[in-house]
Amino acid sequence: MINRLEAVEGLGFFLYRSAAQPWLDGSDMQDILEAARRRNQALGLTGCLHHEDGMFFQWLEGPAPALVQVGNLILRDRRHQEITFLDQGALEHRLFQDWRMRFSDRRGASLMDWFAGSDNSTVDRGDYAGGVVSFMMSLSA
Ligand SMILES: Cc1cc2nc3c(=O)[nH]c(=O)nc-3n(C[C@H](O)[C@H](O)[C@H](O)COP(=O)(O)O)c2cc1C
Repeated sequence: MINRLEAVEGLGFFLYRSAAQPWLDGSDMQDILEAARRRNQALGLTGCLHHEDGMFFQWLEGPAPALVQVGNLILRDRRHQEITFLDQGALEHRLFQDWRMRFSDRRGASLMDWFAGSDNSTVDRGDYAGGVVSFMMSLSA
């Protein structure tokens, strides 16, 4: 749940993983991104969505009340399920300042390959959420 954000003043973030519905196609993905970018623009939210092997990973950042509002929409969205929050809290600086919702999928970069790679030794293997964020930040422009 997104309960810890209620107490955050200023910028906050959350990171979750979910299972995409197996029937989602390219046009569903377009719909999700269009609606996400429209509302994120209006509410001052930015972030990154990665889709791979039927899973979504999403980082969303911005004013805490807007985050809670959109978080509740996302939680109710039937296009995915098994939503698990990996991390949430206060944030000093945005990580995706220029992205209303950055999107990537495994055609561009694979999170699983990235986790398996030997060149990511700076990331603590126990810090799963930190690894997902580092992967998102490593995506080339
Ligand atoms: C994986 C996933 C990520 C989403 N990300 C966002 C988001 O970042 N911002 C947002 O407003 N809606 C996002 N949505 C869509 C919301 O759940 C909701 O459907 C949408 O905001 C409704 O917009 P509308 O009322 O303009 O149709 C996402 C949905 C899914 C399935």
